[in-house]
Amino acid sequence: MAITPQWKDELRARLTLSALVQRSVKLTRAGREWKGCCPFHEEKTPSFYVNDAKQFYHCFGCGAHGDAISWMVDHVGLSFLDAIKELASMAGMEVPAPDPAAARKAEARASLIDVTEAAQRFFAESLAAPGGAAARAYLAQRGFAPELCRTFGFGWAPDDRHALGRALGHFGEPMLEAAGLRAASEAGERYDRFRGRLMLPIHDPRGRVIAFGGRILTPREGLAKYLNSPDTELFDKGRTLYNLHRAAPAVRQSGRVVVVEGYMDVIALASAGIAEAVAPLGTALTEMQLELLWRLAEVPLLCFDGDSAGQRAAMRAITRALPLLAPGRSLAIVRLPRGQDPDDLVRQQGRTGIERLLEAPLSLIEALWQFERDAAPLATPEAKAGLKARLMAHVETIADPEIRALYRRELSDRFSAFAFPPRPPRAARTASEVGRRGAAKGTWRGAPVPLPGLTPEARSRLGALTLGGQRQGLLEAVLAGLARHPQEIARHAEALARLARSEPAAAARIEKLFELAETLDSRAPDAICSAQGQPAPSADIRYAFLDEGTDPDDACAQLAEAVSLLVERPALEAALAATIARFDSDPEGSFAEQARLRTRLMAIEERLKAFGRRKAAAPDAPGASGDAAA
Ligand code: UTP
Ligand code: MN
Repeated sequence: MAITPQWKDELRARLTLSALVQRSVKLTRAGREWKGCCPFHEEKTPSFYVNDAKQFYHCFGCGAHGDAISWMVDHVGLSFLDAIKELASMAGMEVPAPDPAAARKAEARASLIDVTEAAQRFFAESLAAPGGAAARAYLAQRGFAPELCRTFGFGWAPDDRHALGRALGHFGEPMLEAAGLRAASEAGERYDRFRGRLMLPIHDPRGRVIAFGGRILTPREGLAKYLNSPDTELFDKGRTLYNLHRAAPAVRQSGRVVVVEGYMDVIALASAGIAEAVAPLGTALTEMQLELLWRLAEVPLLCFDGDSAGQRAAMRAITRALPLLAPGRSLAIVRLPRGQDPDDLVRQQGRTGIERLLEAPLSLIEALWQFERDAAPLATPEAKAGLKARLMAHVETIADPEIRALYRRELSDRFSAFAFPPRPPRAARTASEVGRRGAAKGTWRGAPVPLPGLTPEARSRLGALTLGGQRQGLLEAVLAGLARHPQEIARHAEALARLARSEPAAAARIEKLFELAETLDSRAPDAICSAQGQPAPSADIRYAFLDEGTDPDDACAQLAEAVSLLVERPALEAALAATIARFDSDPEGSFAEQARLRTRLMAIEERLKAFGRRKAAAPDAPGASGDAAA
């Protein structure tokens, strides 16, 4: 049994807190309480109170606050478990067997929710107060009725560095910080995270407030339009969907769940009577969020903005969903008119306008096909091969074999019909017509961006981390190595498919490798190396797995490591780029994540270098040591 809140209640009830505190701090009676000089900060006049009935101590000077357990931890300096043991022996209780960590986490969660719930009340009160006039005017001007505003819990964070700090001071700075409501500057000065913002509470699936999003009323240079709570013990952006607790019952009624991009879209849809909408929190949909959606409905409906960023976001969601597809489980995609979000649409066309679109979504495979088809002009054989490779790379990521086979077949058919249409009479075809065919008519135009959402600045920050030359050499060697050991290709199919996406230049050759794997035709290696005019690996770079003399098993093992190095890097780089891009809206979260990703990238860098050394050390590559250093 773990240490439960009930057990702790029992423990606290059996102890007299003032007696415990008086072991080290002199207290005097003050009505029903005890008071003394606060042991947590320097003071001459007592502002530290102990209340035995309520079982807590509180300092009105520094905000220190806690119970018998936190007293033993914060004042006496014991670990949580030791504090529990010590107190249990005083109280004559048995300490329940393990899992204190889980219990402490649950406890911390519960009390943090007290903080976020209190913050929600504070923001809502501030909106109703005279200081909230501008925010109320903004809501009215956006056409949000008071009833709707109450439902969604709109609030106002005063433009003051300490308004919330003062109002919620009794929780103490550490709790306010842990709840993501206060932050500390480099100089250690603490301040309210949300200032001068219209506040929206974010709830957990049980409807408890766990975080906030705040919008500035008038966009200003250098200020993010939306600021979200950082990830906390309560709040994990990637596992939370905005409005889930209200949407879930509505989904049970309508059988459909609509995913939109932003808070305001959710609220606009609700105002039009569509209550079953949720939104991710400023990031691409994660696997976890997809799983949450699939618990609600078999085919969640993605309804992203009609701009290219919105369509890229839809495509990222599709890419994430492919590996997770299962019989009956898919996504559907609604294309909004270019430049419009659901909020605009509701405003302009009301419920009927949006319903019409929601009723005729694209299937996942149709959206995927249209996106790739329109991603680049299709004027040359190479471009056609590129499209085929991109489509097949998507197919390879599908884990379910049945669905994978069906996608492969359907996308191949669509590709053939599109890339090799029946020839019209010669005279009818002009060069410009052929060139135009690939260009998008709809909203899916624009080449896919391998590193999503990158600002030029982030790109250059990232650029400093890449190791172009060595990687290119390794890529060439891996392609040649797989051509030499075609029986290995199938084993690396998924990695190769990912590689084809991150290295478009190699996509055609990777597609050839897949063909080779199917026929196991050992005549093909040279054809693969020279396809697309790419040179064979240059003779002065010698990888042991390419050498005739290397034991085939060793060669294959090294090849496998080389493949994983190639694939892991771009994935990490993309993750890092996305994290850097997120920096402005979420500095704390972004920083921690960046540090973690950089460490992993560094480890890969080391493995890459070691690879170079091993390559040099191969006995039958005598001339290689000089090259490896280059
Ligand atoms: P949008 O810019 O599309 O916001 O961002 P919106 O919902 O249309 O908001 P209004 O209509 O201008 O008020 C979509 C989502 O991206 C996240 C937020 O979650 C937002 O709801 N976002 C946006 C941020 O986290 N930070 C930003 O600076 C902007
Ligand atoms: Mn909007």
